[in-house]
Amino acid sequence: MPLNDCRIIELPKIADARGNLTFVEGGNHIPFDIKRVYYLYDVPGGADRGEHGHKSLHQFVICMSGSFDLVLDDGFDVKRFHLNRSYFGVYVCPMMWRYLDNFSSGSVCMVMASAKYDEQDYIRDKKDFLKAVGAS
Ligand code: TYD
Repeated sequence: MPLNDCRIIELPKIADARGNLTFVEGGNHIPFDIKRVYYLYDVPGGADRGEHGHKSLHQFVICMSGSFDLVLDDGFDVKRFHLNRSYFGVYVCPMMWRYLDNFSSGSVCMVMASAKYDEQDYIRDKKDFLKAVGAS
């Protein structure tokens, strides 16, 4: 899938003096059903996470607190998203090399995924990824 399919999605925000509320419905706000949620937290300064690709997994990445960058690479082009609001997320389509960096202290990254954890779905070697997308 092309890099242009990966995009920022703005989620509903119910503004309230008691605190704002945002929600995500699989198949409605994001183009897949949610089978798994995981989150990254206590990330030390200077760390990179998530340097890999997925063969068939769809994901939606939200910055719940603080800020970080999500970098997506389809083998031909690279896009960097700076995330710092919990009512925006980035949809990551399958066959996208990705990593996260530039974490602020105390930041929390939540990821919604279209399938349960499956190591067989990972592409961990960038050379294998570039070959698979026909970029090398
Ligand atoms: P991984 O996705 O490899 O993260 P990163 O690319 O940032 O290092 O996950 C790190 C470890 O956590 C790996 O051993 C697999 C495990 N893991 C699960 O068991 N379930 C999950 O849902 C996820 C995302 C990871």
